[in-house]
Amino acid sequence: MTSSQPQPATTHVPPATLDRETIVAFLGSIFDRRGGEEYLGEPVTMGEHMLQGATIAEQNGQPEEIIVGALLHDIGHFTSEFGTYHPDDTEDRHHEDAGAEVLERFFPSVITDCCRYHVAAKRYLCATKPEYFKRLSPASVHTLELQGGPMNAEEVAAFEANPNLKEIIAVRYLDEAGKREGMETPDFWHFAPMVQRMVDRHCGVSD
Ligand SMILES: [Fe+2]
Repeated sequence: MTSSQPQPATTHVPPATLDRETIVAFLGSIFDRRGGEEYLGEPVTMGEHMLQGATIAEQNGQPEEIIVGALLHDIGHFTSEFGTYHPDDTEDRHHEDAGAEVLERFFPSVITDCCRYHVAAKRYLCATKPEYFKRLSPASVHTLELQGGPMNAEEVAAFEANPNLKEIIAVRYLDEAGKREGMETPDFWHFAPMVQRMVDRHCGVSD
């Protein structure tokens, strides 16, 4: 690892100090400190789930936007880390919006949309791809109803107008794929340089 790459954070970086230079190390520290937390109803931890999606995307030669989108799509489960937690929040209702809100300062819209719309994408695919429903885990089927069930025709048309539709759908499939008990993956720091490239792209820094 060269000095230009993000380094693992040894302490909890206060949210107020987050900037282009510190966001990647901060995200990594969340994976390191809290990745072992339970992913309710699934046979993997939260960290394993997101790392599996990113790893499968990388193994399949998918672009960095999709790898990073998969890596960060559930970061909304950790928004208390960013000081944006509100006592009225419930994770099931808001984690995709909360996650996108903390990411949008640092990442291009393709990444934040993969986060913001990963729940909507499930509702979209259930409405448009009958075979998709079979991929859902029992926990995901249960939350589908809480999330509003399959989209209606009007919602489908609105969803298809998103310019990042292809990436959003790709990350949704990785969300389903990343629930494999015992799958080996690299840790967050393997992906850190590409996460930093996404941040630099959004913040107008070229390497
Ligand atoms: Fe997920």
